[in-house]
Amino acid sequence: MIGTRIAGLGHYLPERIVTNAELEKLVATSDQWIRDRTGILERHVAAPHETSSSLAINAARMALEDARLNPEDIELILVGTTTPDGMFPATASLVQDGLGAVNAGGYDVSAACMGFLSALSAATQYIATGAYKRVLVCGSEVLSRILNWEDRGTCVLFGDGAGAVVLEAAEFGGSLGFVLHSDGSKKLALYAEGPCGPRDADGNGAPPHLCMINMDGPAMFKLAVQSMSAAVREATLKAGLTIADIDVLVPHQANMRIIQGVSKSLDLPMEKALVTVHKYGNTSSATIPIALSEASREGRLDEGARLALCSIGGGLSWGAMILEYSRTGVAPAARSGALAEARA
Ligand code: ACO
Repeated sequence: MIGTRIAGLGHYLPERIVTNAELEKLVATSDQWIRDRTGILERHVAAPHETSSSLAINAARMALEDARLNPEDIELILVGTTTPDGMFPATASLVQDGLGAVNAGGYDVSAACMGFLSALSAATQYIATGAYKRVLVCGSEVLSRILNWEDRGTCVLFGDGAGAVVLEAAEFGGSLGFVLHSDGSKKLALYAEGPCGPRDADGNGAPPHLCMINMDGPAMFKLAVQSMSAAVREATLKAGLTIADIDVLVPHQANMRIIQGVSKSLDLPMEKALVTVHKYGNTSSATIPIALSEASREGRLDEGARLALCSIGGGLSWGAMILEYSRTGVAPAARSGALAEARA
């Protein structure tokens, strides 16, 4: 079985920051309520000219630079997004063109907040089977475009941003086990209608407010804690590990209290969890790659560390992956052997 190393990581947040104080002027809310109930202090919002593809291109350029690779080296581009630039072409095609990745195929993965994790699971399988050697996986969102800015129950929670990871075939590293779940019967817990939905007798589609994010917050809260914890347990078992073997928890960033709930349910100390929700809010598909990119730059991810990635998204998809984090792609035993040889 071929392993997967993380060759490079990148992220991009739009320049404009919207604070809780600013939201107080839009809806009946308060900085205190948002901090207490969600842990969010601020979020970034895309400029009018920015889109999911432009955000992803910025994140991908950083990841390619980190990997010391050129766009032409990439063979496949997967973009997890729930806010694509259009119905088609795929946002991945626009990223491919923007980067000048002339040798890459690409497609989008739509699974709401699970978009990146679903795309990552596919990418690791392409590499494991030998189909591709270098794959770029992005998570990118402009959720501000589908937010109802009059609904205080949702508009305070989300933000815009993108993260990217360049994966490369290697001897060591990659997915040790993953699980993907879906339950469309829970659609009403979190959904946004689109332009292709059913028409009424007069030929009208869904009204505009239903084409924005609609959420049953308390229901999603419970589902998020239960489902992400259960998925991590399941993926850990598949990997032949125990929860005690997890070095870093990389949870989807929806709400600080959800992250604390997952950490408590798994009996993993909060010190092991990556947290960015306070500064970026919920950026859907982008939360996990942004957290990974930042943590790598902060030196928080050790070579060979076992990361538990987990997420949950719109009505309803959820899952987890145990990822053996390797930048070198060389197995620890081989590394220490080589080190001993070098010292002798
Ligand atoms: N400011 C002030 N008051 C508010 C706000 C707000 N922004 N939003 C809701 N309230 C009010 C409600 O109207 C309610 O008032 P009432 O008691 O008079 O009816 C009160 O606060 C309590 O509302 P709840 O919804 O019960 O509050 P809760 O503690 O559940 O927090 C929240 C709401 C933050 C949405 C929480 O349920 C949550 O985070 N859910 C997870 C949903 C989520 O993040 N989904 C994103 C995608 S899925 C995922 O990523 C996990």
